[in-house]
Amino acid sequence: MSGTGEHADYYAARAAEYDASVGYGSPRVEAHLEPLKTRLRGMVAGRDTLEIACGTGYWTEVASASARSIVATDLDPTSVALARARVASRDSIRCQLADAYSLEGVTGHFDAAFSMFWWSHIPKSRLPSFLRTLHGKLQSGATVTFVDQLPYAWSGKRRFDGEGNLIEERMVSGGARFEIIKNFPTESDLVDALAGSAQRLVYAVCPDKRWWMITYQT
Ligand SMILES: C[S@@+](CC[C@H](N)C(=O)[O-])C[C@H]1O[C@@H](n2cnc3c(N)ncnc32)[C@H](O)[C@@H]1O
Repeated sequence: MSGTGEHADYYAARAAEYDASVGYGSPRVEAHLEPLKTRLRGMVAGRDTLEIACGTGYWTEVASASARSIVATDLDPTSVALARARVASRDSIRCQLADAYSLEGVTGHFDAAFSMFWWSHIPKSRLPSFLRTLHGKLQSGATVTFVDQLPYAWSGKRRFDGEGNLIEERMVSGGARFEIIKNFPTESDLVDALAGSAQRLVYAVCPDKRWWMITYQT
């Protein structure tokens, strides 16, 4: 089985172990992430910001150093609770449950948006409506930032589904297995997906070739 349902279930099962499993807080990973943190803070500086798929709030906290306000959203209640606890002392940050594909219940006047490590999980067929929904929540001329991983070596099972999404088998501690979408869009895939709805696109690859970042104005 593949699809967004299983993806959401996988992250719900993984929420409590997520930070440790990706290395947040470890000196080596923190050193790799430093250039991304600097860029993200620059993109949201002084802005009222909408975050999609915030997970445990790691990037919410990073962005909070420069953003004017943040509404951080995720579908998974455990992740939202962890994010809320992480930024509890910041009055200008609200963490709320919201499905990225509907953004129902998300209100505010946003002149920036960002999402970290989420694009790769969006089924190709849902990208256009996801982007329309997101852009519909933003002011004209808002600054948008997406960051995700470049292709990496994988020793587990992988396959493609019928619409060309790469599916990876993932396991959480306890042994439960999930199949999740993990796409690796090229720069031209990103530019094509954003054609007609984005201006001043800038694509960058981090120095260690682990992540890409795309920024643009609506
Ligand atoms: C790879 S994690 C990234 C979390 C966080 N942005 C980070 O980089 O630490 C993907 C996140 O997407 C969330 N998610 C899955 N399906 C979603 C949906 N339909 N709407 C919003 N969030 C969703 C998961 O709960 C998970 O927190």
